[in-house]
Amino acid sequence: MEKVTFNEEVKKTFKSIKKAENGKEDFFIPVYHHNQQIAFLKPLTKNNLMDNPTNHELIKLLTKWRNANSKWYPTVFEATEEGTKKWLNDQVINTDDRILFMVETVNGISFGHMGLYRGEADNFIRGRQDILAGGMTYALRAMLKWVFNDLNIDELFLRVFLDNEKAISFYKRCGFKEAYKIPLKKTKGKNEIKWEEITENNTDKAERYFSVMYISCKR
Ligand SMILES: CC(C)(COP(=O)(O)OP(=O)(O)OC[C@H]1O[C@@H](n2cnc3c(N)ncnc32)[C@H](O)[C@@H]1OP(=O)(O)O)[C@@H](O)C(=O)NCCC(=O)NCCS
Repeated sequence: MEKVTFNEEVKKTFKSIKKAENGKEDFFIPVYHHNQQIAFLKPLTKNNLMDNPTNHELIKLLTKWRNANSKWYPTVFEATEEGTKKWLNDQVINTDDRILFMVETVNGISFGHMGLYRGEADNFIRGRQDILAGGMTYALRAMLKWVFNDLNIDELFLRVFLDNEKAISFYKRCGFKEAYKIPLKKTKGKNEIKWEEITENNTDKAERYFSVMYISCKR
């Protein structure tokens, strides 16, 4: 799949949201159900890189959730807290076309995350099953509203493994449609497994597929 990115205006918005420092957080997306606020989308910002007990808990949580869901990621490895901290610094907070939101109840309990990266919807995990059934659906709808109305993005893609039926029905519930499939091959490294797109013409060797899904603001 062709690599895309967000435009400069969108990157500027991500940067200004992520630069929140010294404990000051003023951006969040409210998540509503029947006109009642049930959750927040809270961006991960520079504040989350500070060395304090709250952030240690956050890194622990992200590591635990990543490991519990590794089979749904294109790169499968055993995440460590140190690695997660570095990833958050290098690949999220200091990457200009990426933003990641924690999904939190109104009482401040995190139960998942979701984000935007390189022109796509990205990194969806429900980390806790015992909180707010349907909460991720309402959270994604709130994020899409922000994407279309505030970021002025016209359409959004995502990649999901074709065998991830639960995630596919979740995305469909939020309005995404299946566009096409990408054949994948598995490569094994020393400490990781990677699912990579088969670029050559011979796609007979596909061991798994991505489904590329999209949603348009004109739907
Ligand atoms: C994809 C994922 C984030 C979706 O989370 P989720 O918990 O299914 O989403 P929701 O919070 O919206 O809950 C939906 C479930 O609650 C049910 N539900 C109950 N009340 C609901 C309501 N008011 N509105 C919507 N759904 C409701 C739905 O029927 C659905 O259950 P089902 O899947 O058994 O049909 C989650 O499955 C996950 O973390 N998967 C593993 C990681 C992963 O695959 N990520 C995607 C990689 S591309």
